[in-house]
Amino acid sequence: MFFAGVICPPDSSMSSILVLHGPNLNLLGKREPSIYGAVTLEQINAQLLVEAASLGVKLLAQQSNHEGELIDALHSALGIHAGILINPGAYTHTSVALRDAIAAVGIPTVEVHLSNIYRREAFRHHSYIAPVAVGQISGFGADSYYLGLQALVRHLRQVATSTA
Ligand code: DQA
Repeated sequence: MFFAGVICPPDSSMSSILVLHGPNLNLLGKREPSIYGAVTLEQINAQLLVEAASLGVKLLAQQSNHEGELIDALHSALGIHAGILINPGAYTHTSVALRDAIAAVGIPTVEVHLSNIYRREAFRHHSYIAPVAVGQISGFGADSYYLGLQALVRHLRQVATSTA
């Protein structure tokens, strides 16, 4: 498991968001740039930390190429993170186990993809994750992550307000 960055703000009451990047996303920048762009995972994580700070939330970003490690990270999020932003990579289209882990922890989750998975090969059109996610953002390159983080934080705040 690759830990990409942590913010530990002085105010420990701030909500914390877990960002999970799935397989092959560590190669962003080198990997099929005509599809995924030139931006690296480090650059995405750095920008996510900036966005998180401006939204007033803490953020931890992790990447793994291993399904079980992603599931362990989801389990470990219980009681620590208020929301999850995930790009499950190819596990989007294959992993019932990842889907079940998201459902099991019950933490509001937003699914993001750099590419528009619905404009690509047919095997990418189905997501096992979408039915257990709050929503999905697909096709905006690295902006999918920043839009997803904004949407997740807004969702968490709306839920907090409506249950207050
Ligand atoms: C991806 C889309 C998936 O189909 C693919 O397997 C990836 C990246 C995206 O961000 O566009 O690894 O999740």
